[in-house]
Amino acid sequence: MIFLEKYVIHGNKKLIGSVEIAGAKNAAVAVIPATLLADGPCIIENLPNISDVKLMLEILYTMGATVRYIDSSTVEINCDGVRTFEAPPDLPAKMRASCYLIGALLGRCGKCAVPMPGGCDFGVRPIDQHLKGFTLLGAEIQADGGCIVASVDKLIGTSIYLDMASVGATINIMLAAAKAEGQTIIENAAKEPHIVDLANFLNTMGADVKGAGTDVIKINGVPKLFGATYTIIPDQIEAGTYMVAAAATLGDVTIKNVIPKHLECITAKLIEAGVGVEEYDDAVRVFYKNPLTKTNIKTYYYPGFPTDMQPQFTTLLSIAKGTSIVTEGVYDHRFRYVGELNKMGAEIQVDGKVAVVEGVSSLMGAPVSSCDLRAGAALVIAGLIAEGRTEVLDIHYIERGYENLVEKLRSLGADIKKVSIPDGSVIKDVI
Ligand code: EPU
Repeated sequence: MIFLEKYVIHGNKKLIGSVEIAGAKNAAVAVIPATLLADGPCIIENLPNISDVKLMLEILYTMGATVRYIDSSTVEINCDGVRTFEAPPDLPAKMRASCYLIGALLGRCGKCAVPMPGGCDFGVRPIDQHLKGFTLLGAEIQADGGCIVASVDKLIGTSIYLDMASVGATINIMLAAAKAEGQTIIENAAKEPHIVDLANFLNTMGADVKGAGTDVIKINGVPKLFGATYTIIPDQIEAGTYMVAAAATLGDVTIKNVIPKHLECITAKLIEAGVGVEEYDDAVRVFYKNPLTKTNIKTYYYPGFPTDMQPQFTTLLSIAKGTSIVTEGVYDHRFRYVGELNKMGAEIQVDGKVAVVEGVSSLMGAPVSSCDLRAGAALVIAGLIAEGRTEVLDIHYIERGYENLVEKLRSLGADIKKVSIPDGSVIKDVI
């Protein structure tokens, strides 16, 4: 029998206590394929226990790598046994980051065949900037039946200007260029913390990458990279999600194992909304200070306000006094969850890339469905705020990026549980 899973939340309870943040999803899904570039085993620590990481490990395993869990967050990966340049046909289409296999395989052996990547649907998500970079490095690329097929005798370093500061293109070009001949310069590079994390990992393996975290990254190609031990940075977006959940429930939560500098854009907006935030060396405390008030946000590339925090923050603003304007500056369609929030009593109107949020005094529990990872997290926060019972369906999206969400929220006093139901009864249950 097929089982469907959902979260059932009884809301209107303050979150109180402390929570540990896991390693960063978007760093982990870049670091794992980067191990294809190394001779010998890599040990990756602080890996989050989430389905996107498991999928990326499964892809490498299917290609011939040995993958061994040392403990729940530490994995040894040895790609010496990988003899293929083809990614498995079915797995990569499930996640966006699978496109990093193109850069990693080109860097490893000058050839690849990788299915077009999947991932959350925020409108068209092209990879033209990735492909432009590979072409400038000398690769010949064809899109063949939903698959990217690329080959090159020798990648040669060059200057690559990105039309937008794409996270994925910056990572993919870094992977391809690490072992290219000569110097590659990426201009208008993305500056997100996981870009710096990947550069640090590549350098730990013996690469020569400079400037990560600024908009010009210089990569001096080296002939070989070697296995290394590396610890992934804490997840900025998981931390931000708990910060917003604490603020929205008028609670008091200390969020541990974070880099407060990476959270400054979120901290600044929470303070503007009336929330108390205290920073420590590797923790932040978020607590009720003043009633929540309207705040405008505009998402942008790092160090701007992250698009991956937009649904969660909009949920907070739905109960803040006054009218807030939320502008999405990265994706064309990232307000698809708003209909679900409005079912819970929010008053949000969307016009293209702008949402006008009229604060209401409270939300009401309802059955709602996640349409992507961060939208799902936003609906969980809405359920934590709301009066009564909320059911969040399609939680597989949420489990792509949040480790032990139910356990962590329960430890903060939330009334949330994960329920498995035989397929078919869900309809009856929800209606
Ligand atoms: N874009 C292009 N052409 C390209 C690449 C990007 O037009 O070749 C456009 C995209 O369509 C989008 C914008 O540029 O409108 C930004 O895309 P970017 O390449 O920066 O994003 P990504 O690499 O596809 C990563 C994260 C996303 C996060 C974005 C923005 C990973 C695996 N994914 O995606 O994370 O939203 O950066 O910060 O790192 C999430 O974690 O929930 C998530 C969706």
